[in-house]
Amino acid sequence: MKDFTHKNIHLSASILAAEASRFDRDVKEVVCAGVDSLHIDIMDGRFVPCTSFPTDIVGKIRGYTDLDLHVHLMVKNPSEYLESLTNQGANLVSFHVESLGDVSLVIERIKALRMKVGLAINPETDAKSVKNYLPRLDQVLIMGVRPGFGGQAFIPTTLDKIAAIRDMLPEDGANIAVDGGVSPMTAGDIVAKGADVLIAGTALFSTEDKIGAVEKLLNAAKGTQTKC
Ligand code: DX5
Ligand code: ZN
Repeated sequence: MKDFTHKNIHLSASILAAEASRFDRDVKEVVCAGVDSLHIDIMDGRFVPCTSFPTDIVGKIRGYTDLDLHVHLMVKNPSEYLESLTNQGANLVSFHVESLGDVSLVIERIKALRMKVGLAINPETDAKSVKNYLPRLDQVLIMGVRPGFGGQAFIPTTLDKIAAIRDMLPEDGANIAVDGGVSPMTAGDIVAKGADVLIAGTALFSTEDKIGAVEKLLNAAKGTQTKC
């Protein structure tokens, strides 16, 4: 088995888990703690049962940080959101292979709007469904939980999916991000299977000690921390 534990891991903070009553403070704290990007979930209440942030949350956050902003669209019709997202300063947009419409067209539209493009895949969807699109992607976003809610337990079969998609990618291909259930307990296994990007919500926002939370995740990713 290949050893992936020495590569640089990108840590993205999923702001869905930020405390609503002190949202901007929470987000600024996690930025100062050293995460590499912010992950912004947008839900339409149709692709998933709930709604989350409106697209203008991106512009609001762009008002106080230069960090990369990665948008995760959990929506039926991704095309409707793209122009607004680029205007507000999003750097990468991921949409679901399970969403409606022509996946290739949405990929090209995101690129034409000068954003990076990610394709997300749900736990119950076969890894093969993303295969044909891989050469045109910057990122494959593998869900470690059913989409729509933070704080769920990581689904263990996700590890096989990470390995399967890693095998389909060339060395210089798209990166692999994992979203949902990422914690110091799971980060080591996720990275060992070939993920490059850890997206964490609860693990970063459920504590006052954001610097400590970042350290714990990165140590776990390197396999230098016992699971606790
Ligand atoms: C789930 C979202 C995730 C979520 C992750 O549908 O896409 O980004 O915030 O939350 P945790 O890290 O709590 O599993
Ligand atoms: Zn997400």
